[in-house]
Amino acid sequence: MRKNILLLLIAFSAGSLFAQSRWTTEEEEKAIDALISEMTLLEKIGQMTLFTSDWDQTGPTLREGYQEDIRGGRTGAIFNAHTADYNRELQRMAIEETRLGIPLIFGYDVIHGYRTIFPIPLGEAASWNTTLAEETARIAAREAAAAGLHWTFAPMVDVARDPRWGRVMEGNGEDVFLGKAMTEAKVKGYQGEDLSDPFTLVACAKHYAAYGAAQAGRDYHTVDISERSLRETYLPPFKTALDAGVGTFMTSFNEVDGQPASGNYHLLTEILRDEWGFEGFVVTDYTSINEMVPHGIVANDADAGELAVNAGVDMDMQGAVYYNYLEKKVAEDKVKLAKIDQAVRQILRIKYALGLFEDPYRYNDMDRQATNIFTVDHRATARAAARESLVLLKNENNALPLAKSIRQLAVVGPLAESQEDMLGAWHADGRARDCVSLLTGIQAALGQTTKISYTPGVSVEGDDETGIPAALAAAKLADAVVVVVGEKWTMSGEAASRTSITLPGKQAELISQLHQTGKPIIVVLLNGRPLDLSNIIDHSDAILEAWYPGSEGGHAVADILFGDYVPVGKLPMTFPRSVGQVPIFYNMKNTGRPFDAGNKYTSKYLDESNDPLFPFGFGLSYTTFNYETPTVTKAASEGDFTATFSVKVTNTGKRLGREVVQLYVHDLVGSVTRPLRELKGFQLVDLAAGESKTVEFTLSKEELSFLRRDMTWGMEPGTFDVYIGGDSRATQKVSFEY
Ligand code: NOJ
Repeated sequence: MRKNILLLLIAFSAGSLFAQSRWTTEEEEKAIDALISEMTLLEKIGQMTLFTSDWDQTGPTLREGYQEDIRGGRTGAIFNAHTADYNRELQRMAIEETRLGIPLIFGYDVIHGYRTIFPIPLGEAASWNTTLAEETARIAAREAAAAGLHWTFAPMVDVARDPRWGRVMEGNGEDVFLGKAMTEAKVKGYQGEDLSDPFTLVACAKHYAAYGAAQAGRDYHTVDISERSLRETYLPPFKTALDAGVGTFMTSFNEVDGQPASGNYHLLTEILRDEWGFEGFVVTDYTSINEMVPHGIVANDADAGELAVNAGVDMDMQGAVYYNYLEKKVAEDKVKLAKIDQAVRQILRIKYALGLFEDPYRYNDMDRQATNIFTVDHRATARAAARESLVLLKNENNALPLAKSIRQLAVVGPLAESQEDMLGAWHADGRARDCVSLLTGIQAALGQTTKISYTPGVSVEGDDETGIPAALAAAKLADAVVVVVGEKWTMSGEAASRTSITLPGKQAELISQLHQTGKPIIVVLLNGRPLDLSNIIDHSDAILEAWYPGSEGGHAVADILFGDYVPVGKLPMTFPRSVGQVPIFYNMKNTGRPFDAGNKYTSKYLDESNDPLFPFGFGLSYTTFNYETPTVTKAASEGDFTATFSVKVTNTGKRLGREVVQLYVHDLVGSVTRPLRELKGFQLVDLAAGESKTVEFTLSKEELSFLRRDMTWGMEPGTFDVYIGGDSRATQKVSFEY
């Protein structure tokens, strides 16, 4: 009896009965309570179970018999199955063939587009254009929702500072501020104003948490960071996602402070639920409950399930641990029924929010599928997004743009003709045959008067140099050479870490020999991570970072190569000079012995400079910008503080261009040491040739606060230096006191 009262109290304190959530009304919460009271334990565990179909393999195991599990009410969610008709049939099984007819939720990795593929997220982050990032997410949602999907496993909001890690392609790069801005845009784009709008998807903030801090950049590897860096660097984008209304979180594979994320009570309950008040549901990553056994935190799967559910994991992705062991764990009283009910409620809440209880087939309309996918408009946005993601790294003697009147152009390199490498990893239903290759884009941009030759020269990997002479012969006949090199799309993404981040194979050798022809060498890079370009930089006249630009990539690159569009992209991750500098990122600290060339005993390498090859925030344009010294005005009222900075920016070149004006702060003295620079503002400013604009930024206490010595957030009195400019090495500075 006492136990029952206690359970009731727990249920009340979890805010379940008659409360409402961010997504559900009081009425709906009551309906959820009523439904839960009718469910058997096995049906509840079914709701907490997610299985993959055999349509796609995105992890180490596949599952047979998932349809039987649906019919038996043993799974409430399916991923890697799509299209309106296929998912309708699976939904029908759940609705018509199970006792309670609870609708399934269908998930998929719609990371940078469903069928219309946009640039990889790292590329989109290079645009610094949150409006565009929101728009591409909205389109991705529109297409995926038309194909029977409800839930995307995106955005990935992991801050990542190690280019060896293949998954840097999937996120927003190294910076917290830019990462937060892109995260908010993505969540809003996927989810829209209202989850019940059938053209939207529920988003998933992943991978919670600190996955990007894997030791040595090796995927799935150990993470060992301080609570301070967890909270200052790795958690803020997750909190932003939550504030933007994200409905689900996904746990990460790694451990944090000795606790695997899928069994981490501190992360999942103390922070996510108790501190932040998250009301949606938490899903694991693929079999990550089972993986707590090799992690060495539990001896068997059953105990892993107990640990996960008690830590706060609501849904088990693919591991079948809840499916196999949770009933027994409840019988043994190792897992409380109230805990199960809480998880089920959080899952049902999202199903309610999506409108699935009203009409479980609202995402399964064949007409909608036929008319909403890969449309002309979506492709136009893909082209715009790709153009804005490109970063011009070098442009000696204005080698770019090339004149469209060019007589003869040699296109060289193993990736020039590739359609599949335009897609990048995680391309959902994107199809290589739909993609515009670089060669096709160039051909389409140039008229009949230009002769275009194509020779691959070398392959991406391998030692074969026998194709180089043909490439040299073509180059000698041409007025300019466009060399398309990089990494195959399979060389980044999940389980795709590299110890070497130079161009693989003989591609650098190809560039070096082409350079000796004396012709202008324009390098276009397709890759998913910052590369070490030290061995090609002196052999190239121009370098254009194109990432994996998506369906319309070839057209977008041609738009830039031939000057129809002026490059705007800025690096969201530092490009090192060598892998030995990694991890390298712009907001490092000063140390007690900052580098001084005249003093041996200072912080440096014997064989390499401390500086990167290309810093965070860097990218050239076809025009130039001048920054004057900023000014500051302070204002204080009732404990509030703001500082407004003004800077005059002038387009000093000959073309209209867009500048990403960036503001960095250095808090000189703190109760804990502060980075030398922290991005705290950016604005996209369009300027005609010769035009000047005064750009204003206002910083409040929020941006100037940090986690102080006592682990509380706040701003401390003292001097702040503020730098405003076009990259993280900006020199124009103003200081103020607080
Ligand atoms: C594993 C990946 O880590 C995760 O990002 C993805 O969403 C799941 N597999 C599902 O495919």
